Amino acid sequence: MHKVVQPKALYFGTPVVLVRSVNEDGATNLAPMSSAWWVGRSCMLGLDATSKTTENLIRDGDCVLNLASADMVGAVDRLALTTGSEEVPEHKANKGFRYEPDKFSAAGLSPIPSDIVNAERVAECSVQLEAKVAEMHVFGAPYAECYAIEVSVLRTHVAEGLLVPGKEDHIDPVRWDPLIIKFTEFFGGDKNVHPSSLARGWGMRHEGTGVLQPEAYA
Ligand SMILES: Cc1cc2nc3c(=O)[nH]c(=O)nc-3n(C[C@H](O)[C@H](O)[C@H](O)COP(=O)(O)O)c2cc1C
Repeated sequence: MHKVVQPKALYFGTPVVLVRSVNEDGATNLAPMSSAWWVGRSCMLGLDATSKTTENLIRDGDCVLNLASADMVGAVDRLALTTGSEEVPEHKANKGFRYEPDKFSAAGLSPIPSDIVNAERVAECSVQLEAKVAEMHVFGAPYAECYAIEVSVLRTHVAEGLLVPGKEDHIDPVRWDPLIIKFTEFFGGDKNVHPSSLARGWGMRHEGTGVLQPEAYA
């Protein structure tokens, strides 16, 4: 038996990506996002039209897609309610977002140079994809003002520990534990690994479901 419902979000479970992009002054921005999927050497990113990352990718197509593993959830959550836009858009201010010019310090992460693109990589991420924007499409109307931004992956960096021994082109799916976001909640393996600031900002109500609650914050 199925029921017709209107879920607040259709976020059924996707990996968390920390996107590095270049600001107008040459500094780099860092933002968590998860509406991402890959085919061949291309990736499609679903991004809010008002984000600094979107503004940067429209102006300068260089970026790095840093894939977060489940053990990086603390750093991701520290970035959850931040934006690199000095003027915080109203819909974000209402959810408790603040302007953060130095996302690396805020998250406790370390930048390392890329080989090809201007944006730096995130050292702590086991998978880092250097990429450039290929195409942009308006997306999400009438419920959201977004862009679907297609990027071409130019270089892939993978932590050696994730490679199948003796096979340079084969990532071991058992050793790779991506941080997955499901309906604004963080999962690694099949476990809910951290309370979610994003869920708090969105006013998601998960009481009684076993999901980690904001009261669990230190
Ligand atoms: C785990 C996680 C996943 C997110 N996924 C997306 C997403 O897929 N698309 C999006 O536009 N924003 C997403 N956000 C919200 C952005 O991080 C937010 O819009 C942020 O302000 C962007 O930063 P920027 O303005 O500096 O680019 C996500 C946030 C978190 C914590």
